[in-house]
Amino acid sequence: MEAMRAVQILNPSGEVNMPRPDRTRVMCVANQKGGVGKTTTTVNLAVALALHGNRVLVVDLDPQGNASTGLNVPHHTGVPDVYDCLIDSVPLEEVAQAVEGIPNLWCVPATIDLAGAEIELVSVVARESRLSRAIEAYPGHFDYVFIDCPPSLGLLTVNALVAAQEVLIPIQCEYYALEGLNQLINNINLVRQHLNPKLDVSTILLTMYDRRTRLADAVEQDVRNHFGDKVLQAVIPRNVRVSEAPSYGQSVMTYDPGSRGATSYFEAAQEIAERGVKEPVSRNA
Ligand SMILES: Nc1ncnc2c1ncn2[C@@H]1O[C@H](COP(=O)(O)OP(=O)(O)OP(=O)(O)O)[C@@H](O)[C@H]1O
Ligand SMILES: [Mg+2]
Repeated sequence: MEAMRAVQILNPSGEVNMPRPDRTRVMCVANQKGGVGKTTTTVNLAVALALHGNRVLVVDLDPQGNASTGLNVPHHTGVPDVYDCLIDSVPLEEVAQAVEGIPNLWCVPATIDLAGAEIELVSVVARESRLSRAIEAYPGHFDYVFIDCPPSLGLLTVNALVAAQEVLIPIQCEYYALEGLNQLINNINLVRQHLNPKLDVSTILLTMYDRRTRLADAVEQDVRNHFGDKVLQAVIPRNVRVSEAPSYGQSVMTYDPGSRGATSYFEAAQEIAERGVKEPVSRNA
């Protein structure tokens, strides 16, 4: 069973069985709460979609550089990174790196330089739309651009919200999960009103679900009641293989494709791909 799932996920025949959207979907993965699974979600969804025929770009917009680490993309000091694009207007294609071993997947890395950007951006012209302009100018013809945000609501996250059409919010199935979410939604509303009318919270993903606890169940119900069908049916369980994968510079998709972590992210990616084909209108409005 596991082997069958692994073959399906790794897709050695290269079949396109996740439908490609008819235009680029730029998805901002945001939640100002730390450690809720933003980066894990970005990396694994990107790999799953790329393994199934989608052209995908990951923009690492967190000075921690975790998405770059997870995709095994060099991001030590001196490597051209997203900071150069934001502050010095270097084109994204000059800093994007192909992800080794995964066809159709590229990553714009973040180095520690990005830590200064939050402050340096303040005095830059069009400071909220630097990333948006950079992505629009990228001639890569991507199906998906995932932007991995830092755990804050500062100018980096604002840049991601201005660049995206969709927000994907990972929510950890824990007691405090919903606290602070109002603040995120308020910020999203402000960006929609003033800077990016197309912005839509399209996707909520429940992460680190521990089915042994009743609490996780309660949080799931709360989130589903509140956000309705924005919440993906697929729920990501707490799974040790998911947390081991980054230390091997891998996604859980490639590290252990038969694991429950991998199959859940695969299902989530499939749902996102299918929704993207059914609901293109709301993004173009
Ligand atoms: N489904 C899971 N099962 C087990 N561990 C997980 C799972 N998802 C994420 N983790 C682990 O939880 C930690 C936090 O995850 P992650 O880095 O993706 O969160 P984040 O929201 O990006 O954090 P930050 O706010 O610091 O950017 C990591 O150590 C990661 O490996
Ligand atoms: Mg992160």
